[in-house]
Order: sequence, then C-alpha cells, then structure tokens
Amino acid sequence: MIQIAVLGYGTIGSGVAEVLKVNKESITKRVGDEISIKYILDLREFPGDPMEDKIVHDYAVIKNDPEIAIVVEAMGGVEPAYTFAKQALESGKHFATSNKALIAEKGAELIRIAKEKNVNCMFEASVGGGIPIIRPLNSCLTADVIEEVSGILNGTTNYMMTKMSSEGSEFEDVLKDAQQKGYAEADPTADIEGHDACRKIAILTSLVSGQQVDFEDIHCEGITKISATDIKYAKALGRSIKLLASSRLVDGKYCALVAPFMLPVEHPLYPVSDVFNAVFVHGNVLGDAMFYGSGAGKLPTASAVVADIVDIVKHTGKHVWIDWEQEKLELADYKDAEYRFFVRTGADRNAVEAAFGAVSYVKAVDGLNETAFVTEQMNGKAYEAAAEKLGDIINMIRVN
Ligand code: HSE
Repeated sequence: MIQIAVLGYGTIGSGVAEVLKVNKESITKRVGDEISIKYILDLREFPGDPMEDKIVHDYAVIKNDPEIAIVVEAMGGVEPAYTFAKQALESGKHFATSNKALIAEKGAELIRIAKEKNVNCMFEASVGGGIPIIRPLNSCLTADVIEEVSGILNGTTNYMMTKMSSEGSEFEDVLKDAQQKGYAEADPTADIEGHDACRKIAILTSLVSGQQVDFEDIHCEGITKISATDIKYAKALGRSIKLLASSRLVDGKYCALVAPFMLPVEHPLYPVSDVFNAVFVHGNVLGDAMFYGSGAGKLPTASAVVADIVDIVKHTGKHVWIDWEQEKLELADYKDAEYRFFVRTGADRNAVEAAFGAVSYVKAVDGLNETAFVTEQMNGKAYEAAAEKLGDIINMIRVN
C-alpha cells in the first residue's frame, strides 16, 4: 500500500480523491500496488464527506509520518505550498503538484532538492491541465532542440475568444457568461490579463531551455482590449484571435511573450476552441507536434496529478532527471521578433503610408470612421517607431 497525503481539498484535491476512487482497479494494476489517501490537509472540515476522517489541519502530522511516501499539493499559490513542498522533499517524500505559480517560481529549486534526496518532484498538471506536455518535453522530445513552443494555455480566455467570435458579443458580456459558467474566477484578472498563461509559458520555456525563466521577464498582454469590432476585422481577414503564449528561438535566444494573435485557418492552433488548450511544439529534427485536450477543470487536472503519482511509484528509488537549472536564462527582447501587425487608426491612408510604407488595407467595419491595415513583416521596435509617428492607434493585434 502506498500512502499519500493531499494538500488542499478544493476542486483539484477532491478531483484527485475521485480519480483514485473511480479508477482504483486500473490504477492499482498499473502501479502494482494500492494507492491510499491517508491524510487531506485543509483548514475546513467536511462533515458527511467520504474523506471526512482523513482531514487534518496541521501539516506537521503529514511531514512527520514516515508512512507518507508522496505529498500531493493542490492548494495553489506560492505559500505555504512552497514551504510544504520543501519540507516534504527534504524529508525524503516525493512531491506532485498542479500548482503553476509554485512551479514557475520555485520549480528549479524543488527539482534540485528532489535530486539531492533521490526522490521526485512532478508537475504535469501545472501546464495544460490534463494534456500531457511536461512529460513529453522532459522524456519524449529530448532528441530535439525545441525551436518553438507556443500554446493556447488558458481555457477561460479561449472560451471567451471563441464566444466573442461565434456570437459577436462584447468582452464584458462574455466575461460575465464565463463567470456564470464557473470558468472565470470572481476576480478574473489572472486569466484575462494573461498572467496565468505567462506562468505556464515560463515553465515550458524553462523546460525546453534547461534554465530558469522568470515570468516577470516575459512580456504579457491579455485580452481585455479585444472588442467585437476586432473580431469582425479578424473574420474579414479569414483569421481568429487567440491568446497565445509563445516562446521561439530567435538568433539563439528564446523570445517569449503572451499576447492576442490573429491566426490563419491553416495554423494548427486556429481550430482550438472553447475551454480546450493546445500546445504546438517545433523541434529541429522532429518538425511539428501538437498536444491538444482538456486544459483545465477538476477531473482533467486530477487525471494529470494522479498520473504523476503513478509515475512516481513506478520510479521508486530513482530520481527522474528534469533538466531545469536555477541559473537564469537570458531571453531575447520580444521586440526583436518579427510579425505582421494588424492596426486600427483614426488617421488617414496618407498618414499610414508615411509612417508604415506599404501596407494591406482592410475594409473598415461598417459605420466606423477609421483606417484598418496589416503591415509588412517587421520587428516590434520598427512597429513601435512607426506607430508613434502615426499616432491615433485604436488597437494593434499581432498577425501570425
Ligand atoms: N484558469 C485556468 C484556465 C485554470 O482557465 O485555464 C487552469 O490553469
């Protein structure tokens, strides 16, 4: 019997308990042993819940119990998750988590401690929910230099962009709808401002580069400036607008950013709709690969957490190497990356051409007295200089 402790009995923690119960037979067969939850750490009581008698309020009970082999963290946030994770690993317990904030900030350190103690620190659920992406990057795509990892890494905003596109609705209306459906939090800032996707692309970039990427160093734009009018322009261009989190090698350095992009129909991420997530990977020998599926939610996320538990048990006595050093990676300036830019301005075509040179105009949305155009390929610095010269910019969206 493998005894585990779950920290946090919220959506993901209760999902872990559910997955272990519903799939007990198949999991036991795969592991070759039974996995049993001995403790659940939570501040609350859960009277009437089947796990009621497992609830403890003091982490010391878990930390000091030699029977606990694996600590599973599903609380979210950096503290106290970080302290608990460190204590677990230092006392020779394995650690699995769904917590992107913790891994983005402290992943390299936790991996180092796990290595020193010959235990494992796993975090498949921290990016892309139930979609396998951490293990593929760490175990399967190791023959490649990863030249690009780009994804739709936030289900809430993808749902919102899909809804704005299918219904022509405004941002505020779809946000309310997403909140009513339970996708967006009461405070949706982390999703709509791109902070959630930013932590996830920081984790992916750390994994493909083998060094620490701080999310604070990644340029991050959310979807709050996208309007129903922008969606109409995107449709006129045969494109969809998606919040992308992207890292690509530019002259030997990773260039990372989170921003809305207009994608063409033939782009692999174009059809990714609703709350689904997808990660596109380009390796120098592999070429392209795509990972698509349920990127959030109780059971998809718990599925990935439980898969980590299974993997940990399969590797008992062996540290699974994860190439992620604490040394910080120097990123390329995101303004050096080249795109075409879709621009809306109150200025006229003469002014546009004086600032940007040759552009492709897009017919203005009915009733609007504005000029809309797509630039030639240019880098972010050149775009900014031209946009400053032009002035009166209503909105800009990168075109992929
Ligand atoms: N708020 C996140 C999302 C949850 O919408 O994708 C999963 O990290």
